[in-house]
Amino acid sequence: MSDTVLTFNSADLLEKGDGLRFAIPALGPHASGFVVRYQGKAYAYVNRCAHVPVELDWEHGKFFNMTQEWLICATHGAMYSPQSGRCIVGPCQGKSLSPIPVSEHDGIVTVHLDQF
Ligand code: FES
Repeated sequence: MSDTVLTFNSADLLEKGDGLRFAIPALGPHASGFVVRYQGKAYAYVNRCAHVPVELDWEHGKFFNMTQEWLICATHGAMYSPQSGRCIVGPCQGKSLSPIPVSEHDGIVTVHLDQF
């Protein structure tokens, strides 16, 4: 879909902290994705709820719920597994976020939009 890879410093991706957003021009002029860290591992998804195609984060970068165990959509409160992107509660139940391949080596997180 795209020949782009994006890189971020590992230190900027905090455990259960704010997600790092990025543009996905191949999906449209306003399309975005995000990467978060959960249990030490980086996970990236298209920033688009499986219920209604809106961005998950009302406030930029705020993807985790209060308990910091689930990714939450700010619009109607759907919750997703950070590890699988699967919706576990809410109007999108049974659906999933679209994952984006991500890897991490030597202090660099790489989002592989080229493999997406
Ligand atoms: S738009 Fe995300 S839960 Fe409805």
